[in-house]
Amino acid sequence: MNSSTTRKPIRKAVFPVAGMGTRFLPATKAIPKEMLPIIDRPLIQYAVDEAREAGIEQMIFVTGRGKTAIVEHFDIAFELETTMSERGKALDILEPTRAVPGDIITVRQQVPLGLGHAIWCARAIVGDDPFAIFLPDELMIGSPGCMKQMVDAYQEVGGNLISVLEVPQAEVSSYGVIDPGESRGALTEVKGLVEKPPVDQAPSNKIISGRYILQPEVMRTLENQGKGAGGEIQLTDAMARMIGSQPFHAVTFDGRRYDCGSKVGFVEATLALALEREDMSADVRAMAERLLKA
Ligand code: UTP
Repeated sequence: MNSSTTRKPIRKAVFPVAGMGTRFLPATKAIPKEMLPIIDRPLIQYAVDEAREAGIEQMIFVTGRGKTAIVEHFDIAFELETTMSERGKALDILEPTRAVPGDIITVRQQVPLGLGHAIWCARAIVGDDPFAIFLPDELMIGSPGCMKQMVDAYQEVGGNLISVLEVPQAEVSSYGVIDPGESRGALTEVKGLVEKPPVDQAPSNKIISGRYILQPEVMRTLENQGKGAGGEIQLTDAMARMIGSQPFHAVTFDGRRYDCGSKVGFVEATLALALEREDMSADVRAMAERLLKA
């Protein structure tokens, strides 16, 4: 592992939000999956808040058809704010939705050819800078947040980082899995990556969990890459090809992760966060107990 030096800071984040969200149909027919709320905040808001906490300033959304609500969410709703002010209502609830002018950037992925292709669509804006990636349907709850933990690790080792967590071996074939090398604290060297391996061929039970810090060279790797698992252009395949030429580490996230791309994960996140909220935990607990007895 490298010794600590000053690194080019991570100021840009790419949010690939052009997927079709088929697992949530019909809810996601006209509403982007990333706008589904966990209680009262859409998934995209949790991800952007996590990015800001990590010092990231530019939010690059890779959008597609029917995704304009995401951009609207970070705009100033002039009529709403004027009406609320006239009625004496506080506007601070809208504060996290305010963006510094120029810091929300969108590019379009015309056809959903896969996560790797979505990231590649942001190449002109990423330029020569290292950048973060957030998959907003993976909700990461921690203090500090997942990306802040990764940025701190990046300051130490540089190169490329992915967040990982351990799952039961039987579940690995749904995810990208790392082949682990030497470990130190939360950091593990990555010797290889494989997307959705059969259970008996998986090199570990550490799965990639929706947060990345990558060097801009990944864009050139993606450019020349064919389709992988599921007929999609896979980010995991591009990252795997960079191992060996640049440092590559996994950060085991100290916190909780909810897979909000699945219905059960989404319900779990809603319940877990509601049980933690001071304004509703007592009522939700009583309701859950009542339902369990019924
Ligand atoms: P998913 O595999 O979760 O796909 O994509 P999805 O379309 O969002 O949802 P399902 O499986 O059909 O229900 C992982 C992430 O990559 C983005 C998605 O928006 C999501 O954030 N993505 C995926 C793209 O932006 N473009 C793609 O071509 C594929």
